[in-house]
Amino acid sequence: MKRHILKGNICTSGDTNEIKIYKNSFLVCIDGICRGIFEKVPSEYCGIEITDYGDMIIIPGMSDLHVHASQYAYRGTGMDMELLDWLEINAFPEEGRFSDMEYAACAYDIFADDLLKTPTTRLCAFATVHKDATLYLMEALEKRGFHGYAGKVNMDRNCPDYLREKDVSCTEEWIKECSTVNIRPAVTPRFIPSCTDSMMEELGRLCEKYNLPVQSHISENKSEIELVHSLCDVEFYAQGYDRYGLLNDRTVMAHCIYSSDEELALMKERGVFIAHCPESNMNIASGIAPVRKYIDSGQKVGLASDVAGGSDLSLFGAMTHALRCSGMYWRLVDESSRPLTFEEVFYMATKGGGSFFGKTGSFEAGYDFDAVVLDDSNMCHPRQLSVRQRLEKIIYLSDSRNIHAKYICGNRVL
Ligand code: GUN
Ligand code: FE
Repeated sequence: MKRHILKGNICTSGDTNEIKIYKNSFLVCIDGICRGIFEKVPSEYCGIEITDYGDMIIIPGMSDLHVHASQYAYRGTGMDMELLDWLEINAFPEEGRFSDMEYAACAYDIFADDLLKTPTTRLCAFATVHKDATLYLMEALEKRGFHGYAGKVNMDRNCPDYLREKDVSCTEEWIKECSTVNIRPAVTPRFIPSCTDSMMEELGRLCEKYNLPVQSHISENKSEIELVHSLCDVEFYAQGYDRYGLLNDRTVMAHCIYSSDEELALMKERGVFIAHCPESNMNIASGIAPVRKYIDSGQKVGLASDVAGGSDLSLFGAMTHALRCSGMYWRLVDESSRPLTFEEVFYMATKGGGSFFGKTGSFEAGYDFDAVVLDDSNMCHPRQLSVRQRLEKIIYLSDSRNIHAKYICGNRVL
């Protein structure tokens, strides 16, 4: 039985606009589940081993709702073009290499090792069209303690021959062969330009037959949206997924930069999660997503790195980029909107995105015990800062060296 207690300065979201701070407090974990935050150890938990993290800060684990594990090797390059060229010149050639298992294993081990050093505990990952390499990725993530979903990508048009599939038979084999427990399969049509109607229909069938979640892209780039309208008869992009039963409360869609009110309304009705990918949106000049509008209208929204559209694997980076982007949206696009607050991006990275995976991303009793311990003792300052100030500085300024420990479902993984 996993029973332990962590002691430190504990921070967790209250609602979207509040971070609750508990100085020198105790966080109790029983069997991988959080039992709450306490000023003193309650008598029923006396005798459980306490790990004292002193003045360090303990936050809930973070969820990356959209990351291309297969693109990690070329992050930080090719950042001077738009989506459709960028896919052809960077993404597709790199993803083609994953037919070679030796390359795939090396690339996915590097990805999973580096991910361990970030605040991410849960993720929705894209692999490539290759079954065996995708299975390897799932095992590599599970071995390191992660929870979440990974998807074998589907494509049968608008891609090079070496990535084009005839049908979904290989995807169905992959679903049947998945043996990982904590990294589960997600149906992954790359996006509508990559998948014919018949492939989408088959994917909808697999989704229903195996009761699987869905991950994909939507309304990211203006040329992409034009292409969607030239390829299918839809009033708006989301209809292309919805008509095949691919939009529901276990769907996560990356981007939504140019989603119309009708598209947002449909996604809200279906309970779809939006993965906001601010760094990627800037890097490949996609645009600025109106995140304030999503939040105010009650959409489910979390944060994502979208590596390698994004170059930073850390959700701390996604949080700072989300703040910057929303400021620019307010300044340049709509002065009647309000920029996001630090509290809101903290919520999106933890409890907001975490709710895609169930009860994760908070230290309320009953939530999965995912925790990240932050050591900022190398960040010297001439005066004493509050825990709230320190947390903000760590998220804005720190790197992986400040991540001292990480727990997923009560297991220490770093
Ligand atoms: N749309 C379709 N494929 C991709 C991808 O690999 N990255 C991003 N950012 N958008 C996409
Ligand atoms: Fe993406």
